[in-house]
Amino acid sequence: MDRTILLIGCGKMGMALLNGWLNKNYKKNKIIVIETNSEICNDLKNKDINCYNNLDFFTGKYNDLIIVFAVKPQVLEEVLINLKKIEIKNAVYLSIVAGIRVDFLTKYLGEDKYIYRAMPNIPAEVSEGITAIYKKNNALEQNSIFVEGLMNSVGKSIWVECEKDIDIVTAVSGSGPAYFFYLTECLTKICNSMGLNKDLSQTLSIQTIIGSSELLKVTKKSPQTLRNNVTSKGGTTEAAINTLMKNKIFEEVIRNAVLAAKKRSEELSKN
Ligand SMILES: NC(=O)c1ccc[n+]([C@@H]2O[C@H](COP(=O)([O-])OP(=O)(O)OC[C@H]3O[C@@H](n4cnc5c(N)ncnc54)[C@H](OP(=O)(O)O)[C@@H]3O)[C@@H](O)[C@H]2O)c1
Repeated sequence: MDRTILLIGCGKMGMALLNGWLNKNYKKNKIIVIETNSEICNDLKNKDINCYNNLDFFTGKYNDLIIVFAVKPQVLEEVLINLKKIEIKNAVYLSIVAGIRVDFLTKYLGEDKYIYRAMPNIPAEVSEGITAIYKKNNALEQNSIFVEGLMNSVGKSIWVECEKDIDIVTAVSGSGPAYFFYLTECLTKICNSMGLNKDLSQTLSIQTIIGSSELLKVTKKSPQTLRNNVTSKGGTTEAAINTLMKNKIFEEVIRNAVLAAKKRSEELSKN
């Protein structure tokens, strides 16, 4: 845990990671944040976090440095160009930037560098994220353990063998929270249209998704088992599920959505 972490970008996801590390007792004085947003930067300084607006101060003279990129994809190239001007030895690099391949990072950082790419998701903000991690073929075990520890600070993580699997992960878990939020929005809207007021409709829908998630988590039963448990023959749930399953209508809608996200992830990675 004694490595120095340089976090570049502390917006939604960078902040989730930073909070996760602090909750897991990574030392404050071993974390440096670069964040161009002065409001965020000042907030962090008030919490005794070393935060700077740019890399000007950074000498790179740290042992066991890990640099985490958490900026938007369109900003990354500029960050890499600035980083290249600094002499940095023995660093490990971890990028959570969507759609940016390891090849792109290697081009700026160097062929021999230890580079990891990860795809977390936004439940990381409440330590319930799931991250897929991909490592370059020169990875060292102690670095991989450290990187996994960083990502496990905000939930769970899995390793993927091929970088192209990150496109699948992006489409399923990266974008996935939005699918569940949208399902909740739809339920709310339908409930409201059937006659319950908006607030009640929202409470029913939100608590249903929270309760169902909690059941999955606590009981560790499969989604299918839990569904079967609440689907009595000839009952109301069966009437609804039969409608969703008819001609795999619901599955196909979800499939098309996930495929669209995967296609977009592949397109973005080509740029
Ligand atoms: N949010 C997610 O659910 C999610 C999931 C998986 C992966 N990711 C990836 O995580 C990365 C960050 O996403 P985000 O949602 O956290 O975005 P975000 O909220 O916009 O955070 C990025 C932060 O970086 C700052 N920044 C811009 N240029 C910078 C620079 N040169 N040096 C240091 N900081 C700089 C931005 O400040 P300004 O606002 O002033 O520009 C902003 O505060 C993205 O690449 C995204 O693909 C996000």
